[in-house]
Amino acid sequence: MTLIDGKAVSAQIKQEIAAEVEQIVAAGGKRPHLAAILVGHDGGSETYVANKVKACEACGFKSSLIRYEADVTEAELLAKVEELNQDADVDGFIVQLPLPKHISEQKVIEAIDYRKDVDGFHPINVGRLAIGLPCYVSATPNGIIELLRRYNIETSGKKCVVLGRSNIVGKPMATLMMQKANPGDATVTVCHSHSRDLKKECQEADIIIAAIGKPNFVTADMVKEGAVVIDVGTTRVPDATKKSGFRLNGDVKFDEVAPKCSFITPVPGGVGPMTIVSLMKNTLLAGKKAIYQ
Ligand code: GUN
Repeated sequence: MTLIDGKAVSAQIKQEIAAEVEQIVAAGGKRPHLAAILVGHDGGSETYVANKVKACEACGFKSSLIRYEADVTEAELLAKVEELNQDADVDGFIVQLPLPKHISEQKVIEAIDYRKDVDGFHPINVGRLAIGLPCYVSATPNGIIELLRRYNIETSGKKCVVLGRSNIVGKPMATLMMQKANPGDATVTVCHSHSRDLKKECQEADIIIAAIGKPNFVTADMVKEGAVVIDVGTTRVPDATKKSGFRLNGDVKFDEVAPKCSFITPVPGGVGPMTIVSLMKNTLLAGKKAIYQ
């Protein structure tokens, strides 16, 4: 069993990005600039955004954090999005989700200029991904593809089960795994809350990508000997032994599943660090105007 070390791979990629940024700047180019909008004080979102800002520093990017209280109006938020769309100094930006209930996430996502949508959430980027055109790809699935690539994990012709059908992870993950590409070229099944025989689907899978947000959902009896298991779960569960009072729990019952696997990602230290570094890669692409002018 090989433990996939997302922390080490992400540190390596950050170094690669930082080296490229210094080359760009030394040649008189522009330092990439990522802006992030954070609404309210959700604990998870605060942590994610703080980590994104920290990663920008490690990569040599400029970053801007724009904060609003949870009672900001949709109109105010949309006005800021438009301002960032027009700001030539900002190469890419994100609006951290979830947003308070009185704001339409879809409206906000669609207001972002797709050429600055480094989250890859805008329908133009999602549509371009679906038909295999260059675009910004959602960070978590893109990070998983990068892990599969760097660990030389064979995906061509393999049976891949994606657990979960969210717009951010499950759907783009399935799209990437079925893409005519390497990694890719897999036979993909997407399972969700209405799937009839999810356990049987998993038992037949060469690769399981679990992104349903249910701690310990994938148990040993669901996993074939030699399978590759990628755990996207990051549910916070109370843990009095931690300074923060909680720990992150994956969707996979790691202790019993790991011995059956050829490769498995831990939580934390697997997919999580790759998500942030994928956003950094998209920001570098935005800075270089590599996808859109
Ligand atoms: N909330 C959870 N994941 C993400 C993400 O990748 N981007 C944004 N903007 N919000 C999120």
